[in-house]
Amino acid sequence: MSLVENVLSTLSVEDKVKLIVGIGVSQRIPGTAGETRSIRGVEAISLTDGPSGLRIEGVGEKWYYATAFPAPIMLASTWNQEIVEAVGRAMGEEAKYYNISVLLAPGLNIHRHPFCGRNFEYFSEDPLLAGEMAAAFIKGVQSTGIAATPKHFVANDQETDRTTIDTIVSERALREIYLKVFEIAVKKSDPWALMTSYNKLNGKYTAQNEWLLKRVLREEWGFNGLVMTDWGAGDNPVEQVKAGVDLIMPGSDELVSWLLEAVKHGVLHISYVDRAARRVLELIERTRRARESEKKLDLDAHAKLAYEAAVEGVILLKNNGVLPLKPGIKIAVFGTGQIETFKSGMGSGHNHPKYTITILEGLKSSELVVDEEASLKYTEYSIAKRGRDILEKLYKCEIKLDHIPQDIVSEEEVSKYAERDDVALIVINRISGEGWDRKPEKGDFYLADDELHLINIVSKHFHEKGKKVIVVLNIAGPIEVASWRDKVDSIVLIWLPGQEAGRVLADILLGKVNPSGKLPVTFPRNWKDTPVARSLECYPGIPLENPKYVVYCEDIYVGYRYYDTFNIEPAYEFGYGLSYTKFEYRNLVVKKTERSVLIEFDVVNIGDYPGKEVAQVYIRAPQVKLTKPFQELKAFKKTRLLRPGESEHIALEIPLRDIASFDPDKKVWIIEQGLYQIRVGSSSRETRLIGSFTLDSDLVFHTFYI
Ligand code: BGC
Repeated sequence: MSLVENVLSTLSVEDKVKLIVGIGVSQRIPGTAGETRSIRGVEAISLTDGPSGLRIEGVGEKWYYATAFPAPIMLASTWNQEIVEAVGRAMGEEAKYYNISVLLAPGLNIHRHPFCGRNFEYFSEDPLLAGEMAAAFIKGVQSTGIAATPKHFVANDQETDRTTIDTIVSERALREIYLKVFEIAVKKSDPWALMTSYNKLNGKYTAQNEWLLKRVLREEWGFNGLVMTDWGAGDNPVEQVKAGVDLIMPGSDELVSWLLEAVKHGVLHISYVDRAARRVLELIERTRRARESEKKLDLDAHAKLAYEAAVEGVILLKNNGVLPLKPGIKIAVFGTGQIETFKSGMGSGHNHPKYTITILEGLKSSELVVDEEASLKYTEYSIAKRGRDILEKLYKCEIKLDHIPQDIVSEEEVSKYAERDDVALIVINRISGEGWDRKPEKGDFYLADDELHLINIVSKHFHEKGKKVIVVLNIAGPIEVASWRDKVDSIVLIWLPGQEAGRVLADILLGKVNPSGKLPVTFPRNWKDTPVARSLECYPGIPLENPKYVVYCEDIYVGYRYYDTFNIEPAYEFGYGLSYTKFEYRNLVVKKTERSVLIEFDVVNIGDYPGKEVAQVYIRAPQVKLTKPFQELKAFKKTRLLRPGESEHIALEIPLRDIASFDPDKKVWIIEQGLYQIRVGSSSRETRLIGSFTLDSDLVFHTFYI
């Protein structure tokens, strides 16, 4: 008998029920999210968030520090699995040090639109990119013996009424987009745990949905870890255990009694409880080595990694000859974001690092010469408006800062700075978080009037003197840029870059690191252009005051699949990002074998700076019986650092199964006969090489993966 079966055989029904219901919000390790119960020698284990770094707090004056890594939206912007795996490993090591066995990350929901308040915790609008990033992250975490927990399974793509909303979505869209990302992660990285979502899916809470948790997750994909609920999800613990939930979180004594009664009255068969208890014991066993092994916390090494991950995720959106800057350049910095720099978003995606380097601190300790007067003005203003403990509050705790006017400098002052400084930098920042969605309004998706005014006066005076203006976006998700970007010379997107924020920005501005991030999401020109804008039913759901359901009207046309298919010009497309150098793509060879397509080509650095490129392969499928998006990302590769003149040969293999579409009538995956176009490019719209292959007859794949 295995160890787990052995222990199970010693437990009473009550013991087993207690084992599958968490102890309630736990404070044994401050800041953590929950804990299982210690039963007859079975030890309790701790679980904590989250996607941007370990979420742990302190006791009294003593803080337990954890590294603030860049938010997942920025990790995905690196398109670099190696660095994401290293970040996962570092978070696993920190969890191990603090005796936490389960990390409640990564977040795998899809950026269905720019407004979901938690998008920064999720990777992308594309399931392949998100799935690959998730698999890398999970491998990293679990290499340390800590369980990763992909969440929130599934279709939890907004915060508005997240605990009750019914998400109405077709099986095809589910299979091709929303489930796909979990499918990739489960098959590639074997997560030891998984968290359901709060919402209902087509009428049933996901935590109470047997089709989802048994048929799809376990039978089709072969998931063999533990399924837990999101914190307080659903409305019936008996249904949850029957549907396939193994651990109810955070749990309570009332829930234990509810389940015990159900077992007593024959409403819940003990075999369900046994199954769940077995999985909890298995998870405790799987993570035992981490609890018992030697523990080290190297915050300095992790700070270095947080820097490397962030610097690779910076995206250069625009550059009219201003960047990189030369050392010694005098720079005037505008905006409170230079002091109130957002390292991460709020809610489960927040954490407590030892320090955060603000934009101002980063620029001041670089080889740039900061105009002290302008920065002092913003610092004093920020302190006066928020209170002196602003930084302490901002970096250690969760606070939502309201927007305050940014145009606090007069035209005379701006003109003076334009006279004496070489370049202007304006910081625009936005935060979002768990529990609320962003809004298509001024001060959120759109710039506030005061921000526009600031951009206008700074651009006017600096341009009059022949000097350039850079805008830095320290934001949680896309904002509107199309109406104002022509007024400035450069736009640098740093998302929520973690604790090394200021240093990351300074090194990019100075060209110490050549930007190589690419957008994991589309920047739409206008919110009306987004796939969800056509009616309230599509987002945020109806009735408007308190939405009960939301319909995924755009179906499979999510993100660039929508903009490309329906010819809607975005401000910046999926996969977009500039570099200080130029890359050329050459020598495309496409070969179809019985089971896959082989794609080879070369990427050459033909510019003057060393740099990395993200080569992207999109496939355009023929329209036969099923409608298809214009194109879909099917593979990508980030090159190594290429010196000027150097090239990298890229060889990618795409299994034919990964090109198939889901036929909702026959419930099979099908790749239809016809001509398939291979589009290799530096973004979804910057296609550099085109090839093709032909399929003479349809190929069908069943949902069960063999
Ligand atoms: C969030 C989860 C999180 C959990 C524990 C829930 O409210 O949705 O993402 O892991 O709380 O903090």
